Amino acid sequence: MKLLSLLSLCAAGSAFVLPQQQQPLQGILHAADALAAVPELWSDDTPRLLELAPGDAVWMKEGDKLRLMREGKKFIDITDHRDLGATVHASAKQPVSFPSNITHSEIVKPIFKSLSADNIRKNLKQFTSFPNRYFRSDNGRQSSQWLQSLISDTIDSAGAKNVTVTPFKHTWPQSSLIARIPGKSNKTIVVGAHQDSVNMYLPFLSAPGADDDGSGTMTILEAFKALLTNKNITSGQAENTLEFHWYSAEEGGLLGSQAIFSAYEKAERDVKAMLQQDMTGYIKGTLDAGKKESVGVITDFVDTGLTEFIKKVIEEYCSIPYVETKCGYACSDHASASKAGYPSAFVIESAFEYSDHSIHTSGDTLDKLDFEHILEHARMTVGFAYELAMAKF
Ligand code: BES
Ligand code: ZN
Repeated sequence: MKLLSLLSLCAAGSAFVLPQQQQPLQGILHAADALAAVPELWSDDTPRLLELAPGDAVWMKEGDKLRLMREGKKFIDITDHRDLGATVHASAKQPVSFPSNITHSEIVKPIFKSLSADNIRKNLKQFTSFPNRYFRSDNGRQSSQWLQSLISDTIDSAGAKNVTVTPFKHTWPQSSLIARIPGKSNKTIVVGAHQDSVNMYLPFLSAPGADDDGSGTMTILEAFKALLTNKNITSGQAENTLEFHWYSAEEGGLLGSQAIFSAYEKAERDVKAMLQQDMTGYIKGTLDAGKKESVGVITDFVDTGLTEFIKKVIEEYCSIPYVETKCGYACSDHASASKAGYPSAFVIESAFEYSDHSIHTSGDTLDKLDFEHILEHARMTVGFAYELAMAKF
C-alpha cells in the first residue's frame, strides 16, 4: 500500500502539472512504470466482455485490459454494445461510391495557410500537461472539459454561428466531444481522434499521450480551425454535414466511439465516411530505419473504397507519399464506425512497424514528435473533409 500511495502521489498528485514541473518527474515515473508492472499492485474485478478477434469474445475483468495491452493484444470491450451493427439500416447497407477524382484543389490549398505547426505544438503542450487523460479518472474529466473550451473558443474566434460543440456523456467521467458544421443535408462526414490516454502499467500513473493520441486530437482541431476560415463551409452551403469527434475511452476498448456509433445506428444517422487520426507525429522510427518519411494508410478492417479515396487525397494534398500498412484487429475508433456499418479509413504516422513504441507509458512525450509531419496529416484532413463535404452522394 505504501508503494501504491507513493506512485499515485508522484504521478497524479496534482490535477494539472505544468510542463516545466513534469520534467524532473520523468525519471521517477519511468522507474515507477517498471515497478508497477507487478500485477498485484492493482486489480479491478469488474467483469467485462472483451472481443479479441471478430466473433471471439471472452469474459475478463477490467483489470485484464492493461495486461492485454502490455502483451500487445488488441480488444474491443463489447459489454455494453453487443448489438453494434445488428440493425444496420438501409442507407448504410448500400455501398457508398466515393469521388473518383479530387476536384476542389483550388479552394482547398489556400486553406492550408491557416494551418500552423506552432499552434499545434502550443495546444499539445497544454493537453499533455495533465498527469494523464485516463477516461475513468478526474484527470480525464478535466482534460475533456479543457478540450471542449478550446474547441468552443476556436468556433467563437471564427465567428461561425451555426457551428456547435456538444459533449457526449458516458457512464464514466470523461465525455466524448462532437463538433458539428451543418451542411445542406444530414448526410455526414466524420473525422475522429481519441482524447484519452493511459499508462499500461497502472491507470493512475503519468500518461502524457503526446502521440497516442494527443497528436491526432490536435491534428483534427487544427484542420477544423482552418476549415472554419472558408465561407462555403461556415455558411452551411456544403452538400453534407461535417462532424469532428474526439472520443473518450478508446484505450478502454473503443468505448466512447462504440457508444456514439451505436446511438447513430439507432437514430438511423446517414454517415457516409469516417476518417480516424490516431498517432500522427512520430517519424524517428522510419528515418532511423533509413526509410523516407511517409504516412501509413491502413488497409485492414477498413472500407476499401474510402481507403482508395484517401490515397488520392494524400497524393494531391500532402508533400510526402503514403505506404500501405496493417494494424491488426480493433486498432482504433474507426473499427466502431465499421462495425456500425459506416465506411471508415485510418491513416497513421508511418508504416506500423516504425510507429512510436513509447505509447501507453510516461515516455510518450512531446519532444519525440515532428510537427511538420503532423501538419501533413492536418492537410490531409482538410482535403478529405472539404472534398467529401462537397460531394454528391
Ligand atoms: N493508437 C493506438 C493504436 C495504434 C498503435 C495506431 C500503433 C498506430 C500504431 C491505440 O490507442 C491503441 O492503443 N489501440 C490498442 C487497442 C485498443 C482497443 C485498446 C492497441 O492497438 O493495442
Ligand atoms: Zn493507445
